[in-house]
Amino acid sequence: MTTPAPLDEAQIARLVDRFYDKVRADLVLGAVFNPVVEDWDAHKRLLTAFWCSVVLRSGTYQGNPMGKHRGHSIHGGHFERWLALWRETTHELLDAESAATMYAYAQRIGRGLQLGLGLADAGAARALGIRIIGQGATG
Ligand code: HEM
Repeated sequence: MTTPAPLDEAQIARLVDRFYDKVRADLVLGAVFNPVVEDWDAHKRLLTAFWCSVVLRSGTYQGNPMGKHRGHSIHGGHFERWLALWRETTHELLDAESAATMYAYAQRIGRGLQLGLGLADAGAARALGIRIIGQGATG
């Protein structure tokens, strides 16, 4: 059995490219992204730099993700959909181990963003059997 190749910039760029093509076409996520993102190639380059900084410690992304997510009427349902599409895409393009790694990073970062934005973590709440009132509301 051959050992799968470790994640590299080319794989991450391909993942980001396919993922944001899906986001653009997605009813739920596209409604948030499409009015904001004017240049999708630039957005993909930025997000490739972000993920290379997270996974490969490339240091090529220097931004403020938390600040960028404020003021877009993002709610917990958006995070669920985002993570579901991310999971699907990682499995389409990566070996099982790399897909799991990329999903775990996204889950952790997504949880941090949700907490920072003052959103309840819908997944964790459901696991605890808690219903979040107003989870579907925007604002
Ligand atoms: C784990 C989940 C997520 C990660 C890791 C993530 C990461 C990022 C990063 C790094 C940026 C670029 C920030 C910058 O310009 O420096 C960004 C932008 C953006 N994200 Fe997310 N994001 C996540 C979830 C979401 C969700 C659920 C939404 C809502 C639908 C969302 C909507 C946006 C939008 C609209 C932008 C563009 C903001 C702008 O240019 O003003 N993100 N994201």
